[in-house]
Amino acid sequence: MSAKLAIAVVGFGAIGRQHARNLANIEGVDFAGVVDPLPEARTSAESRGYRTFLSVEDLLKNPLDGAVVSVPTALHYPISLQLIDAGIGVLIEKPIAQTIEQGTQIIARSRSRGLPLMVGYVERFNPAVIAAQGLIRDGLVGTPLQVTTRRVGTWPARVRDANVIVDIGVHDIDLISFLLQTNLTLLDAQGGMAVFNDRIDYASLTMDAGGVAANALVNWVTPVKIRDMTITGLAGFLQVDYLRQQTHFAPGRDFVVTESYEDFITQYEEGVLLECPVVRREPLRLELEKFVSLLHGAECPDPEIALGSLRIALEATEMIESKLRLGATT
Ligand SMILES: NC(=O)c1ccc[n+]([C@@H]2O[C@H](COP(=O)([O-])OP(=O)(O)OC[C@H]3O[C@@H](n4cnc5c(N)ncnc54)[C@H](O)[C@@H]3O)[C@@H](O)[C@H]2O)c1
Repeated sequence: MSAKLAIAVVGFGAIGRQHARNLANIEGVDFAGVVDPLPEARTSAESRGYRTFLSVEDLLKNPLDGAVVSVPTALHYPISLQLIDAGIGVLIEKPIAQTIEQGTQIIARSRSRGLPLMVGYVERFNPAVIAAQGLIRDGLVGTPLQVTTRRVGTWPARVRDANVIVDIGVHDIDLISFLLQTNLTLLDAQGGMAVFNDRIDYASLTMDAGGVAANALVNWVTPVKIRDMTITGLAGFLQVDYLRQQTHFAPGRDFVVTESYEDFITQYEEGVLLECPVVRREPLRLELEKFVSLLHGAECPDPEIALGSLRIALEATEMIESKLRLGATT
């Protein structure tokens, strides 16, 4: 049995708290504590029994194997580099950084030091997504033709430094690329500012995913929270509900001409969508267990996919902003 790994959380905000809760309960992890300059954040961490540090410098005075970087996105770059330069493997919350240049440097620096690096695309660890991945891999969907994603709901007040595409749309961009194992090309982006006047809060992206037509719908406006994906292939259809952790599959079938409206409706009602077995688990926990395995020497997921996701999100932002500057309506 190998020694316990010392892993810390840098940034004890909305998501950092969830990382800390999980890390404190993972076998083989010696939760090393929390870094946050905000006194309220440290008080809250101490009330949960965690060690706290004012800065990364203070944290680094102690033995450390890995760290989760869950500071605001603008700080991913300096904090990650500081940790990497100290020889620490990092799990950086999504998106990897604010710009492609910063993300590229983070990847290069961690590669040159031979350190584990992971970006927190937590939906990859959603059991419903893992079930879908298995069906695709086993050929049940056949050649994929079309993908749609929806990630809509009202604005969470915590988000202050990103638009809706960069903050949450990246999850879907990343998943399409990850599940289909291909790079994406942005073909078109439409959207605007419905509730905000300083950042895009609704958008539709049209992408080419290696010959597969992909459409992503994202907003902070819809009063109902929906997070789902469909994949239509030549051999079947997949539907993934991330929130409920449900995956449904329908094998391909021929269109049947019916004599009555009743028959027409019935053939689409029952037994068409089959529920796949999915064991519900907390995706963040699975993500952190993966990070622990990387620190033990397992192969890192390709960080270029995460960088590509940011690239598409930034391109879509630029496309919509330039349409808005030109006064084009959506
Ligand atoms: N994977 C997901 O589903 C998911 C969900 C939420 C947020 N995120 C990402 O996580 C990151 C953090 O988001 P959040 O919503 O938790 O933000 P937040 O504002 O709630 O928390 C950020 C915390 O970082 C602290 N901080 C600021 N400067 C720091 C520094 N120099 N050192 C240490 N701590 C510092 C702040 O005091 C705050 O407590 C963002 O990049 C966001 O995109 C990912």
